[in-house]
Amino acid sequence: MAVDLLLGLQWGDEGKGKIVDVLTKNYDIIARFQGGPNAGHTLEFDGIKHVLHTIPSGIFHENAINLVGNGVVIDPVIFKKELDNLSKFKLNIKEKLLISRKAHLILPTHRLLDAASEASKGKAKIGSTLKGIGPTYMDKTGRNGIRVGDLELDDWKDRYTALRDKHIDMIDFYDAKIEYNLDELETEFFKAVEVLKSLTFIDSEEYLYQAQQAGKSILAEGAQGSLLDIDFGTYPYVTSSNTTAAGACTGLGVAPGQIAEVFGIFKAYTTRVGSGPFPTELFDEVGATMGRVGNEFGATTGRPRRCGWLDLVALKYAVRVNGVTQLMMMKGDVLSGFDTLKICTQYKYKGEVIDHLPYNIEPENVEPVYTEMKGWAEDLTKMQEDEQLPKELNDYIDFLEKELHVPIKIVSVGPDRTQTIHR
Ligand code: IMP
Repeated sequence: MAVDLLLGLQWGDEGKGKIVDVLTKNYDIIARFQGGPNAGHTLEFDGIKHVLHTIPSGIFHENAINLVGNGVVIDPVIFKKELDNLSKFKLNIKEKLLISRKAHLILPTHRLLDAASEASKGKAKIGSTLKGIGPTYMDKTGRNGIRVGDLELDDWKDRYTALRDKHIDMIDFYDAKIEYNLDELETEFFKAVEVLKSLTFIDSEEYLYQAQQAGKSILAEGAQGSLLDIDFGTYPYVTSSNTTAAGACTGLGVAPGQIAEVFGIFKAYTTRVGSGPFPTELFDEVGATMGRVGNEFGATTGRPRRCGWLDLVALKYAVRVNGVTQLMMMKGDVLSGFDTLKICTQYKYKGEVIDHLPYNIEPENVEPVYTEMKGWAEDLTKMQEDEQLPKELNDYIDFLEKELHVPIKIVSVGPDRTQTIHR
């Protein structure tokens, strides 16, 4: 059976966790393919809120197998904390959660390198979550990394020590001096590694191949968003992995021809956390209201997210790069109460009006051109059916579908599993 793919189309935080959780009942296997604990996937049901960082969002569903793919980077310390938080649910983790031997490990010194690199950048800092993501992927492509499968080797501690010592030299090289207590960090790390070693490691590409042959349904769960992709995002203000559709092939070992549906998740407006250009960003009361009503604070770092109108130029770009076949619009409820809604349909770019995403979208190069639409006053959060949605919201959806040439199949009207309208 083919593999379906679920991705964020903006700068992350689109609500992927909730949708995976909603869709999971249709799948046998949920697989994360890139990123690491920089992600924060929030799920809400039965009045409880859960934030997952590395563990796939299908973990609460009884029959789903959850796979952490080779493209993911794992911090054993954060992983252990996630497992501790799950312990009260009495899940059979050893059976339900599988880890690729080819996934790379985030070492304590990767986190320190991230901090030193950011501190040395001054005003040009990326706004990284400081989870060690960039340095770990650098070691992966530099062919120095330590992988989960290495933990099964007798000499893994020697490999660890060699890499750690190299990192310490690199940390000293940065101008920005950071304080750290390596003994403490290592004690915590080795304890967490033992917990990781008690889980099930697999050759995940072979596992997924066999699962496909056996007719199992598979959902690949993306992290971050397309505009944070290392190649196609707003470089250098991006993360260090391919967050777009191609990342699922390299991050799981699934062949391109095996991908069927590509679910693209976007918010009815736009948010961004961390630094980098954001053409439709609002600095006024409207933006502040979106942030307040939408509770726009990072699930991993708690940082307030920057808010702005929907950027259709950027969204179209993401739909195309990913080959999205179905769209899911999140947080429609947050836009209730605005008299007028704006959608950015074009950019003014170096004196010209364009409708594609150019190389440079810094404020000095790009000014958004907006289409205005009438807003709605109704509270959407109790609505259950498509027919209940206000006319103005349907007009908003129709406009987007016409521009994007892809159907919007789900409209989310609140954080809970039940606040999901299928169209
Ligand atoms: P890093 O991946 O932690 O190095 O962060 C690089 C950039 O991506 C920063 O601007 C982060 O704020 C952003 N970022 C990383 N992960 C996420 C996420 O899951 N949601 C939203 N932004 C993220």
